[in-house]
Amino acid sequence: MSINIGVLISGGGTNLQSVIDATISGQIEGKVTVVLSDKNDAYGLERAKKHQIDRYVLPESDRNKMIIELLQEYSVDLVVLAGYLKILSPAVIQKYNKRIINIHPALIPAYCGKGFYGMKVHEAVIKNKESKSGATVHLVDEGVDTGPILKQKEVAVEKDDTPESLAKKVLKIEHEILVSTIEEISKGAIDLESIN
Ligand code: GRF
Repeated sequence: MSINIGVLISGGGTNLQSVIDATISGQIEGKVTVVLSDKNDAYGLERAKKHQIDRYVLPESDRNKMIIELLQEYSVDLVVLAGYLKILSPAVIQKYNKRIINIHPALIPAYCGKGFYGMKVHEAVIKNKESKSGATVHLVDEGVDTGPILKQKEVAVEKDDTPESLAKKVLKIEHEILVSTIEEISKGAIDLESIN
């Protein structure tokens, strides 16, 4: 079955790009039908434009109401948070219960939750001299980075790694596991409804 994917972003959109590319190659059986951003200067919006994907900048007020309206208008089956930095309202999560996934740049339950996003994650990992880090794809529930884990992949943290070099390594893993998770959902190999 081909799925309609809605992607929410706040920044560069490299995760969005990896999903778009995988729908074009056929690895993911589906298409990105809409891209929503809370930031009007998110480069991910340019990426959507290049692929003639409808895109919207969300307003400050009634942001979550607009998210629901647009996801419905574009018949979205699967919502992907790809570097989206705002918290979704309970209404959005209930409406799309078990149909929202998020990519996080750490091995949840480590380095997640309030304040742990983007470079802040990698800075903490390096500061704490961790020997490994990685990325996690999880179902979104009403907590922050707390939903059931769908996929994780580790990467070694080398002695000479900096937060920037670690971020680059982790971002590659994010692309890989986000695409493979969506691929498996699109092919029925992961049944989100059955996950608790
Ligand atoms: C990255 O820091 C990534 O770890 C997180 O969101 C940030 C932006 O990713 N998921 P992207 O390039 O906008 O997809």
